[in-house]
Amino acid sequence: MGITRGFGVDIGGSGIKGGLVDLEAGALDGERMRVVTPQPSTPDAVADVVAEIVDKFGWDGPVGITLPCVVKKGVALTAANVDKGWIGTNAAELFGERLGRSADQVVVLNDADAAGTAEMRFGAGKERHDGLIVLLTFGTGIGSALFLDGELIPNTEFGHLEVDGHDAEKRAAASVKEDKELSWEEWTPRVSRYISVLENLIWPDLVIAGGGVSKKAHKWLPLLDVRTEVVAAALKNDAGIVGAAAVAAHGIRH
Ligand code: BGC
Repeated sequence: MGITRGFGVDIGGSGIKGGLVDLEAGALDGERMRVVTPQPSTPDAVADVVAEIVDKFGWDGPVGITLPCVVKKGVALTAANVDKGWIGTNAAELFGERLGRSADQVVVLNDADAAGTAEMRFGAGKERHDGLIVLLTFGTGIGSALFLDGELIPNTEFGHLEVDGHDAEKRAAASVKEDKELSWEEWTPRVSRYISVLENLIWPDLVIAGGGVSKKAHKWLPLLDVRTEVVAAALKNDAGIVGAAAVAAHGIRH
């Protein structure tokens, strides 16, 4: 019998969320726990919260953890929306120590890559493994996960494409909509402009729109003016947790 339960923690600029995951259903198994991200969001402060969440559930198996950073071999290499102290931090080692787990029991990956993995296995990309699919998460920043024939090409940072002289996520992230109090009609053209630039560069077959705003997809997806088919993510806010847990239990491949 395969592994049927896992545990994921999704670290974001505003909240750290974790929970048990039913790996067959591709969904949370019970309630998730959310703790406000400590400010400053230093590696030590964040690791304390991660340990608190894992302890709370009494979970002793492998843990998948996302960071809003480029992550290679467990080391965070960027930090656009978290404390700069993450850059160069061996996150896998840090969490392993804090959680009392060996290196193979802790997997750390980029948040959008985790969300994309969940969508491809269980959500909007499930039946759509052929071709080039990009998941974009619209939240504090813009995250991206790229899949070719179902296989993840990790650590793409399409949220930082330069669009009309600006870092794309500074114009089109969901946080910008909130901060500037933009209506859907005002914000969506920014997203269209962003996706247009991206689609002219990589020519995807499908775009999956994720992040918190995917819950309101009906309000803005119809307003998009782009060439590529865009569908809403299915797992909404839980995609990062589910994807992280799945990767920790089964590895990155499908
Ligand atoms: C970061 C990405 C991250 C995305 C979503 C961006 O600012 O550079 O690594 O995936 O935000 O959190």
